[in-house]
Amino acid sequence: MERLNWLVNRGVDEERCGNEAVAMVPPDVPAKVRRFHKQIPGFRATPLKSLRRLADMFDVGGIWVKDESQRCELTSFKVLGGSYAIYQLLKRRLGEAGELSFAELTSPRVREEVGSLTFAAATDGNHGRGVAWAASKLEQQAVIYVPRGTSPARMGAIRSHGAEVHVVDGTYDDAVEQIQHDAEDRGWVVVSDTAWEGYEDIPRWVMQGYSTMFAEAQEQLVGVGVPQPSHVFLQAGVGSLAASAVAFYRCLLGKHAPQFVVVEPSKAACLFESVRIGEGKPYKFAGALDTIMAGLSCGRPNPLAWRVLRDCAQFFVACPDYVAARGMRMYAVPLEGDPFIVSGESGAVTLGVLSFVMQRPELAPLRERLGLGKESEVLLINSEGNTDPDHFRQVVWEGAHAVPPGVTVSAASG
Ligand SMILES: Cc1ncc(COP(=O)(O)O)c(C=O)c1O
Repeated sequence: MERLNWLVNRGVDEERCGNEAVAMVPPDVPAKVRRFHKQIPGFRATPLKSLRRLADMFDVGGIWVKDESQRCELTSFKVLGGSYAIYQLLKRRLGEAGELSFAELTSPRVREEVGSLTFAAATDGNHGRGVAWAASKLEQQAVIYVPRGTSPARMGAIRSHGAEVHVVDGTYDDAVEQIQHDAEDRGWVVVSDTAWEGYEDIPRWVMQGYSTMFAEAQEQLVGVGVPQPSHVFLQAGVGSLAASAVAFYRCLLGKHAPQFVVVEPSKAACLFESVRIGEGKPYKFAGALDTIMAGLSCGRPNPLAWRVLRDCAQFFVACPDYVAARGMRMYAVPLEGDPFIVSGESGAVTLGVLSFVMQRPELAPLRERLGLGKESEVLLINSEGNTDPDHFRQVVWEGAHAVPPGVTVSAASG
């Protein structure tokens, strides 16, 4: 039976970590990024929710959930990255060194100068939806490639912003390769959340764009009297989200940054495997990547994100799909007094992992290594809401992907 695996990253290097973090999210960048996001019409900070009763059950100081299911009505954090990258791209095209307002970006002058553009992205759904949304706000075109097996609901959500959607007969990694070729032939501007040789600026902007989420969370924590999280659990596909969090906190807090736990599906654990191999370089994860965590179904780490995670992130976890499904049900049926949170497969996996770490006897060594206890303030990111309604109901109503007998967690714990 497939189980949750974890490892301690022996490659953490304080000095290199500091340098990589500053290169990724320079200290002045989060405030600039936030100023840009704040002027998008309808933009609001997402809530930070406290699972007080669950924290008591698990005997930790606090469990805090940054709820990205409510981000700009797009149900995922991804729009933060795509929109900021497109903003930077347009600024570069216009030769503008300073900041540009959203109103200027959508003005006839800018449209005339940049002309008509087609933004292209490969996606499991959420990134493509963010790019399509940003392109439509700027009255530009978007073409989005999705891997085989992408749910009709996810494709429909992208099309609802006026984008063209093409299904590539392969995985997310194949879609990334395909779009590089097609974009070159057709003059599209690729807005990718992963990097490759010679293509780094845009994915770096995407990662910088995500910093708004952590800047908001940090401000919200301080607002309720918690100076900082002690632990951050981060779900990873190509690793851009996780690297953005690590770089943000590392630049803000230096050596007092929280402990980071990077979580992937066992069926697409490219970062976990790269750390396990321990040669300091990213490895491609072989296999069909057929996990229910569609947003994390990536076989090739983002090389930029990899460098930050390799040098800074202390713990890596690879987990079966049933861990994510348990997280979805825990969010959907909270303890009395805790808020109800809508969380999809990739969003919920970190709560699933936390519950296993706190409740499964064989994970006591990980619990101890992490130092999780009464003083701990744990930050989780609910990175998506209900992005695939049919599957959401199968998991939450029908109990699909149940925790196998023999692995069930002790109800009496806590
Ligand atoms: C909901 C959700 N969570 C997490 C991630 C992981 O982000 P990254 O690929 O940057 O690791 C994704 C990526 O698409 C996602 O859609």
